[in-house]
Amino acid sequence: MTKTDSYEALSHELAETIVKQLREKPNSCFGLPTGRTPLGCYGLLSQWSDMRVLDWSRARCFQLDEYIDPAERSMTFEHFLEQNLFKHTNLPEENRFNPRQCDDYDGLIQSCGGLDLTILGIGSNGHIAFNEPGTVRESWTHCLWLTESTREANKSYFGGQPRVPRQAITMGIETILQSDKLILIASGDKKRAILERAMLGPVSADVPASFLSLHPHVTIITDFDL
Ligand code: GLP
Repeated sequence: MTKTDSYEALSHELAETIVKQLREKPNSCFGLPTGRTPLGCYGLLSQWSDMRVLDWSRARCFQLDEYIDPAERSMTFEHFLEQNLFKHTNLPEENRFNPRQCDDYDGLIQSCGGLDLTILGIGSNGHIAFNEPGTVRESWTHCLWLTESTREANKSYFGGQPRVPRQAITMGIETILQSDKLILIASGDKKRAILERAMLGPVSADVPASFLSLHPHVTIITDFDL
């Protein structure tokens, strides 16, 4: 576990780890999250990419999850990643993958050699990607109904909870656990209690993030003490 002093330091730590992976293996497969927590890191990666010091031309990026049928394209995670990261990089369009556009996302990931590094945020109910409480460990990419608490947490992107889509598609727990390396990021006091439950409590589908303790190479980056 890496405890940093601030959100800025967390973002730096994460961005530097991604850069190291990209430099060591230019054709790395990344699993990338959306949400507020990775935004600082994406800002740094965007700056460095704008300065042409990063080469994404051989990388492959896989979105962790996506809404099903949001009212507008600007509300999709695809759009989020495009705006906050991809448009600043030389990542080819054909190397950007979205579970909505693919019938066999897990097969696609495997055919690219598997995920090298997957970054995850944590939802306040313990979800990772969109694996909501109750998701079993043996789950691959699947569609699901979002919980009301998740829809509530994400309402600001949609201008109110009623407009938040009810369904999504997500990499499963098994998809995530198959990644060579995992990084879980959590920022701010509101994430302390759930992270504590995930890391120190029993491994259980009640808190999907608890399954991460079954992985041999998981790093947790926070800006608070557990
Ligand atoms: C969303 C995403 C998750 C993300 C989580 C936390 O629901 N599907 O991948 O990790 O929320 O988001 P935030 O970083 O905004 O707290």
